[in-house]
Amino acid sequence: MLNLVNYLYIISAGLFVLSLKWLNSPVSARRGVFAGEIGMLVAVTGAFIQAYPVYNLEWIVSAIVIGTAVGIPIAYIMPMTAVPQRTALSHACGALAAALVGTAELYQRQPKAAEELSGFVMVALMLETLLGFLTFTGSLMAMGKLQEVLPQRPITYKNQNLVNFFLFAIAVVLAVRLILVPTDTYLFPFFALLSLLFGVLLIIPIGGADMPTVIAILNSYAGLSACAMGFVLGNKLLVVAGALDGSSGLILSIIMCKAMNRSFTNVLFGAFGQIQTSTAKQEQRNVRSASPEEAASILESAGSVIIVPGYGLAVAQAQHKIRELYDNLMRRGVNVKFAIHPVAGRMPGHMNVLLAEADIPYDRLVEMDEINGEFPQCDVALVIGANDVTNPKARTDKGSPIYGMPILDVDKAHTVMVIKRSMNPGFAGIDNDLYYMDKTLMLFGDAKGFVTEIVKELPARAAA
Ligand code: TAP
Repeated sequence: MLNLVNYLYIISAGLFVLSLKWLNSPVSARRGVFAGEIGMLVAVTGAFIQAYPVYNLEWIVSAIVIGTAVGIPIAYIMPMTAVPQRTALSHACGALAAALVGTAELYQRQPKAAEELSGFVMVALMLETLLGFLTFTGSLMAMGKLQEVLPQRPITYKNQNLVNFFLFAIAVVLAVRLILVPTDTYLFPFFALLSLLFGVLLIIPIGGADMPTVIAILNSYAGLSACAMGFVLGNKLLVVAGALDGSSGLILSIIMCKAMNRSFTNVLFGAFGQIQTSTAKQEQRNVRSASPEEAASILESAGSVIIVPGYGLAVAQAQHKIRELYDNLMRRGVNVKFAIHPVAGRMPGHMNVLLAEADIPYDRLVEMDEINGEFPQCDVALVIGANDVTNPKARTDKGSPIYGMPILDVDKAHTVMVIKRSMNPGFAGIDNDLYYMDKTLMLFGDAKGFVTEIVKELPARAAA
């Protein structure tokens, strides 16, 4: 039986590794999701066999039924734009589960502490519960900030880092005492409360702008907590899966910080987050605007068009209409490509997911570093609901919050057309110099509505 369980765990671990590998590219991402799901099913089956005969089966089955009944509707109802918050909620639940398992293990094993709570197990247990509890409250805070039910601005006060450090130090002292004397369980509630409080204090000084990166870091903490749980329970698969989760979350957050030009240490330790408001003072400058008919005329006479999607595309859910525009232009012999910025939208891979949903061929999606060399030769850059990722200020204005962020070189195209509803700024809350260039035409309207109008105009023009 034990052999079977080990084989199942090896298969499951292999599937998790493959899942991460396949999630690297939009071509294989779907396969990656399936591999992860099957890996988890195999893991749960193995755990059931290992624990056979399973006690309190009715409780476990009830939890599975309730989880499924809540999880499936959430997956359907939740709009794509709310996925970061949804992810934070998942991390909160996963981390709480790990922390509660650790708590239960401590109290259950405490009567036989001498045999069952060795120094090593206690170190793992303390890490599991510390990371689990702080990730629980931290993720709920991140979710609240992203959902705007909590203030997005960083909340800071004098000596904040000192207070945080002091509270953390007390938690560490309690943990050390519990490691040395596991029977002192009366200390554990204080340790747990401090860990929960620390999660809140860690997140409040970080601005809403950094929340998606923070979520990737919290993902990493939840993974490390699960890894520690693996040591407590003597479950090798949990150790492997937790380590994979912990390291991939960390790597993702570093990649996101680089792409947004944020300091990783600031995001990690907080207290330095900056508010990105949409109330930035805007100068009154003139822009040129155009109608769908004019836009259609420019597009049909172009030889090459680069479409630059951004967050507005996700809000408008314009991906299927963009597919129609793409098909129409390609049929006319126009070479159409899509420029993908690593942090366009609000989550990693946001644009890839949306465009894949509309079955736009993957080889037409070109990453920023590769496509930037093509803008100077491109006839038309059509920006759809993107703003910050095209702002030339990131190259030139040292005072700008996005200074240093790599951008798409849209301003180098021969003609630029921008679909957005108003002159409102994007996520960073700053004006975009691109809109005031002589070669830029603003196409004011909802992305889906405007693209629909352009698509209607194209055949009409061909017939005329
Ligand atoms: P943004 O700079 O946020 O700009 C989006 C633009 O879309 C807005 O200017 C808005 O203008 C327009 N828009 C909104 N709804 C629209 C609709 N229905 N139709 C047409 N336009 C619409 O987006 P971006 O260029 O994709 O840049 C992403 C930003 O988010 C970056 O600052 C990035 O650092 C940040 N961020 C990204 C991530 C990840 S991982 N992707 C995570 C955290 C933060 P109007 O209101 O005038 O329409």
